[in-house]
Amino acid sequence: MANYLDKVKHIILVASGKGGVGKSTVATNLAVALTREGFSAGLLDADLYGPSVPLTLGVSDQHPQVEKKEEEEAIIPISRYGVKTMSLGLIMKKEDAIIWRGPMASKVLTQLLENTVWGELDYLVIDMPPGTGDICITLSQKLPQAKAIIVITPQQMAVADGRKAANMFKTEKIDIEILGIVENMSWFTPEKHPDEKYYLFGNGGGIELAKELRCPLLAEIPLVSDVCELGDTGKTVFASNSKLIVQAFEKLVNKISK
Ligand SMILES: Nc1ncnc2c1ncn2[C@@H]1O[C@H](COP(=O)(O)OP(=O)(O)OP(=O)(O)O)[C@@H](O)[C@H]1O
Ligand SMILES: [Mg+2]
Repeated sequence: MANYLDKVKHIILVASGKGGVGKSTVATNLAVALTREGFSAGLLDADLYGPSVPLTLGVSDQHPQVEKKEEEEAIIPISRYGVKTMSLGLIMKKEDAIIWRGPMASKVLTQLLENTVWGELDYLVIDMPPGTGDICITLSQKLPQAKAIIVITPQQMAVADGRKAANMFKTEKIDIEILGIVENMSWFTPEKHPDEKYYLFGNGGGIELAKELRCPLLAEIPLVSDVCELGDTGKTVFASNSKLIVQAFEKLVNKISK
């Protein structure tokens, strides 16, 4: 079978133990930030039960072409902001609820990963579903060379769940290297008070987990009021009124690519 992952240099899994901490936001904007720094990047949405990437990249109305090559299907990814992307949300109808059991989900994910014609990529970023489950196991077995970023928010509950996710990557069965921690929604700076920082969800969770896991804290991303609306309308953080969030993603790319 054709191996479309052959020319992909680095694979980054964006994971967390807890839902809603910003994996899809970080994964999407990391992929876009990489292209802005001159790297070629792809973005695979591995959250089969709640795909977000069609929305965050603003490609919900697009459908990938599927070509039959001998007995195999080759899926042509959709491109946006220079990022090649694939998501089950681009293939299924929006209203179709997905009720597969684990083995079926793993099979579908494997097809999205292996049948998509990624071409030459410096980075393939993978937006993971929340928690620790079948999808993580499948991906780690298919992609032993991948490295994981753990996204947390500063609150203790998210740190505890981040620790669980990290422990899963470190098990013998999975054994994926952890590239580092990204702390999201770290602080809030009001536009009118640019010198102030409010730590709405607590302070220091990212540093604490990074120390404990002996890995770097790759970024602290501020909570910014227009990010939610930008994500919902397919715009990236690079269209934000806040320079702080743009700088945070630029720093993240810098740390990852050096
Ligand atoms: N730094 C930020 N500032 C403001 N809002 C943010 C930030 N990061 C994420 N959000 C918002 O928080 C919500 C959750 O983010 P997102 O969907 O990226 O999380 P997730 O971890 O992928 O969730 P799930 O576990 O459901 O997949 C979204 O509405 C998103 O726009
Ligand atoms: Mg998500």
